[in-house]
Amino acid sequence: MSYNFFVKSDIEFGCGAIAKLPEMLKDYEAKKVFLVYDGGVKAAGIADIVLAEIEKSDAEVVIFDGVIPNPTNEVVEQAAALALEAKADVFVAVGGGSSIDLAKAVNVLMTNEGPIGRYGGMNMVKNDLLPLIAIPTTAGTSSEITNVSALIDTEKVIKYVIIDNKIVASKVICDPDFTRTMPVSVTAATGMDAITHAVESYISNMATPLTKYNATAGLRLLHEYLPRAVKDGSDMEAREQMMLGCVITGFSFSNANLGFVHAIAHTLSAHFGLPHGMANAAVLPYVMEYNAEACPKEMCELASAIGLPLIGDVEKDKYLLSEELMKLIKTLGIRTLSEQGITEDAFDMLADDVLREPVLGFNPRQGVTKEDVIGILRKAF
Ligand SMILES: NC(=O)c1ccc[n+]([C@@H]2O[C@H](COP(=O)([O-])OP(=O)(O)OC[C@H]3O[C@@H](n4cnc5c(N)ncnc54)[C@H](O)[C@@H]3O)[C@@H](O)[C@H]2O)c1
Ligand SMILES: [Fe+2]
Repeated sequence: MSYNFFVKSDIEFGCGAIAKLPEMLKDYEAKKVFLVYDGGVKAAGIADIVLAEIEKSDAEVVIFDGVIPNPTNEVVEQAAALALEAKADVFVAVGGGSSIDLAKAVNVLMTNEGPIGRYGGMNMVKNDLLPLIAIPTTAGTSSEITNVSALIDTEKVIKYVIIDNKIVASKVICDPDFTRTMPVSVTAATGMDAITHAVESYISNMATPLTKYNATAGLRLLHEYLPRAVKDGSDMEAREQMMLGCVITGFSFSNANLGFVHAIAHTLSAHFGLPHGMANAAVLPYVMEYNAEACPKEMCELASAIGLPLIGDVEKDKYLLSEELMKLIKTLGIRTLSEQGITEDAFDMLADDVLREPVLGFNPRQGVTKEDVIGILRKAF
């Protein structure tokens, strides 16, 4: 039996890589650049550095700085109106997953009819897109290399995903210098998102040898360097290795997809606006403890990959990973669900919505019940 593994990214990686931006814009013969970022990236001084590089090319710039965390359909439509009016011909997105996902969605609307919601699901985009240069400032989502854009539908109160190879960024600038200014809680949350991607894609029922290879290599780096990056944000070796681990992991999950943890995180963000990584991190160990029943061998493989001491008894070893993740979220100061503002009276409604999440279909343990979801929310509370 054959399987497909899709990779299309053209990556410039390393401190100082941003210097390649003017040349990239010239290669595209860019006349009107649509630059996307948010307030945090502006305050950190990163947007101005990127702007100065764009000014070295011959292109004019139109700025959209209204990105919000967990971007919504409304913000996408608002930015698209501006980009269409300006006749933008190249996109530059600088920021975390929220800015890059927003730029991908706006780019869809440049060559495909709106509204954006109609492109939710897999391979729904009809026409090719304009060039998009993605410049990540977090080491977390891997959006810079994935075929995914995650958006909130505020009417349906769901987080949905557009999955399409057409939306992958055409060029990527991974400059670890840009992640140095991330606040501690953003470093921890986004790093835990990447760890969740590695673990969920490794055990996904869509996993292949190529996705498992990337998930394992990514997880090793993320597990080793995330505590260092959180402890000292100016540890540039840790920042660089986190960014690398994140790119490698992206190759896995954009092919193998995710699972139960993301089903819960999407629902928590749609209803309560939780930061994506924080929502994942709070439930990850408990979902892995639950999943261990369905994929004990894979749990042992992941534990072994990050150097945990196996005793040779699968019934015990299958919990090593979830125990390690519990320790990790405590060390990193990840907030519990109650500390993130979730109340117990919401569990029933949340569980109903989690069960409707399409991403649950990739989870190794199938037949998840409402009681199972509530049990996990309670443990993470
Ligand atoms: N497309 C994908 O493949 C994919 C995968 C996972 C998650 N996501 C989505 O990505 C979004 C989350 O992205 P994120 O976790 O990267 O966070 P984010 O983009 O929402 O940013 C979080 C906060 O950190 C700030 N920030 C970012 N970089 C900074 C820096 N270097 N210095 C100072 N402040 C900085 C931002 O201004 C913002 O306030 C969610 O919507 C999630 O669903 C997408
Ligand atoms: Fe994620």
